[in-house]
Amino acid sequence: YRIAVLASGRGSNLQALIDAIAAGTLRATLSGVFSDRADAGALERARAAGIPALALAPRAFASRADFDRELFARIDAAAPDLVVCAGYMRLLDAAPVEARAGALVNIHPSLLPAFKGLHTHRRALEAGAREHGASVHFVTADLDGGPVIAQARVPVLAGDDATALGARVLAREHPLLVETVRLLAAGRIALHERRVHLDGGEL
Ligand code: GRF
Repeated sequence: YRIAVLASGRGSNLQALIDAIAAGTLRATLSGVFSDRADAGALERARAAGIPALALAPRAFASRADFDRELFARIDAAAPDLVVCAGYMRLLDAAPVEARAGALVNIHPSLLPAFKGLHTHRRALEAGAREHGASVHFVTADLDGGPVIAQARVPVLAGDDATALGARVLAREHPLLVETVRLLAAGRIALHERRVHLDGGEL
């Protein structure tokens, strides 16, 4: 089971996948890590683990469609069964997303459908949420709006700021992502007619 990861930043979720594979708790291969930022920590983590790592500069392309065409051509060359967006901060063009329905997932730091988009921890605090968390969902053309596969919940505690709350969520993101990818790799979760199917049943 081959996995490609898209990441723009520090790459702690990528690291969780690298570590689980190294520990033998996730039976998969990371076939490539791809970024829109040459300075992404995720690329360094990939190289340190011997995984092919590539950054493409959006500015070198005339349009989002052109950028994503090249990006997904490179991804396809790595022949992944699954593409994981783990802190990939750039919008994806609808065409490659639709072409990979069911084989493209994202981890988002909120309990979707609450708080799509950016600054989720700050917004959860401002909204007075008592619970917050993270979601792994199938990516569709609807930003952060694709079918949710699994979530991890954390309490919002008195005195929390966005940093403290974000750290509590991130600690849960890592096992959530590994466990969800494990279920996908085992074929126990699939997208069918825009709904999530678990072991043949429907979620
Ligand atoms: C995570 O909070 C993820 O949910 C969000 O971006 C952050 C990426 O963190 N999409 P990292 O780069 O995996 O450390």
